Amino acid sequence: MGVTVKILVCVLAIGGGLVYKNVSQLWADLPVPQLDPQEWWGDAEQPKDYAAYLANNSEVINNKLSYPEKTIDDLKSRLNRTLRLTSPLEGVAFEYGFNTDYLKEVVEYWRDDYLPRWREREVFLWQFNHFTTDIQGLRMHFLHLMVYDDNKVGKKHYPVLLLHGWPGSVREFYDLIHLLHQSNLDKNNKYIFDVVVPSLPGYGWSEGTSRKGLGSAQIAVIMKNLMQRLGYDKFFIQGGDWGSVIGSNIATLYPNNVLGYHSNLCNNISPKSLIKGFVAGFWPSLFAPSGSEDFFFPKSNELKYLLEETGYFHIQATKPDTIGATLADNPVGLAAYILEKFSTWTNPSYRSLPDGGLTKRYKMDALLDNVMIYYLTNSITTSQRLYAEQYAQAQRELQMERVPTPVPTGCARFKHDIMQFLDFQLQDKFTNLVHSTYHKNGGHFAAMEVPNVLYKDFIEFVKTVERKFKIKSL
Ligand SMILES: *[C@@H]1O[C@H](CO)[C@@H](O)[C@H](O)[C@H]1NC(C)=O
Ligand SMILES: *[C@@H]1O[C@H](CO)[C@@H](O)[C@H](O)[C@H]1NC(C)=O
Ligand SMILES: *[C@@H]1O[C@H](CO)[C@@H](O)[C@H](O)[C@H]1NC(C)=O
Repeated sequence: MGVTVKILVCVLAIGGGLVYKNVSQLWADLPVPQLDPQEWWGDAEQPKDYAAYLANNSEVINNKLSYPEKTIDDLKSRLNRTLRLTSPLEGVAFEYGFNTDYLKEVVEYWRDDYLPRWREREVFLWQFNHFTTDIQGLRMHFLHLMVYDDNKVGKKHYPVLLLHGWPGSVREFYDLIHLLHQSNLDKNNKYIFDVVVPSLPGYGWSEGTSRKGLGSAQIAVIMKNLMQRLGYDKFFIQGGDWGSVIGSNIATLYPNNVLGYHSNLCNNISPKSLIKGFVAGFWPSLFAPSGSEDFFFPKSNELKYLLEETGYFHIQATKPDTIGATLADNPVGLAAYILEKFSTWTNPSYRSLPDGGLTKRYKMDALLDNVMIYYLTNSITTSQRLYAEQYAQAQRELQMERVPTPVPTGCARFKHDIMQFLDFQLQDKFTNLVHSTYHKNGGHFAAMEVPNVLYKDFIEFVKTVERKFKIKSL
């Protein structure tokens, strides 16, 4: 062997060693980070005497929200302006974004059919008790349903926290709330739940912060404090989208407070998991349960989908206030921006339908309820800032994805959701992944689209947790 080759081999060996060292560092699990349990997110200075602040401000107030006629009339007249929209290209449905021909129809329906019935929609939206309370300086809004004694007889009774995401709201859960809370309608059903459904900070009626740094880990702290404020020390969690990330963070930071974590968007974006997913792509049949390969493969489709569908994400993670300024005070644009996601994330094939398939799986009233929540609370900008906070350095440095949690975990996968992870990617983070299912029918907004399926899946998960772990009914 010549000297050059020897040197080359040495360099390669050292290089290989260093890369291995680096990779194995990235491989390692991390300990649970300590977050300030009382971090202050309010406008004013944090009160010096926090105990006194709590004593004065932990009241939970029943809030019946209502909007004056003036606000609704103003929206009607905004929707009655001549729309200066650009026609879609020939033969284009939703491939370039929300189809403007169909947008005109949505606006017309909104103005002439939905809004004249707004008082009725209010009755529908306020059918559950809405509350607010102060957590760490922010006015948090939530629905809270408690089970009273008579209804508990002969039932297993647990608390569950339902967490929504973007561009959703508490409205996504209305059907699921009925199923969880009124399970006494079905005599054979052994389960009944106290249900807590918060609006995330900066979403809907929950106040947004005026400080930087409120990412998904810090929101997990707020949510855990909210549950304890309501008297729930141990509870189940269900969530998709941001609700999934926040729920995972609660399970990671406070494993002792979580009976079980169930998600319809389980994910693990640790370097190890991503490499595993890449490797699995070469031998799909080894890694995906038979019959469910098409949830994961081929990977090339996934990459194409990511490139085509994640522009919003980059914008919101980098310039949330600019896109926020174009949407706030612009109900037509807001509806297009929000509802485009309800089309494509429900089923990517709906991009080729002139109406985005929006009413195939949802009632237009339900979709508009959700848009109204963003419009009336003017929360689109604050909701989008969550993307920026999540990808800010401070949040990334927590590396929550590399901190495992022993909390019993259940993953319900829906075929048309925006991303999918294999069990063997998830198990690094969720060491007690006890429930893993595949649903061919359904997409990203499962709670709203297929509430019965999600409900049954969740109940199966609860049964498994009961069987494998000792948990106490309320
Ligand atoms: C290993 O990681 C360090 C930073 O953590 C980096 O500076 C270095 O270039 C990496 N080395 C290799 C061989 O990848
Ligand atoms: C609590 O309320 C009392 C009476 O309203 C007030 O005097 C006191 O300053 C409040 N304390 C704090 C910490 O807000
Ligand atoms: C919309 O404008 C037209 C014409 O100006 C008017 O006749 C109609 O009443 C308006 N509708 C609403 C809902 O404001």
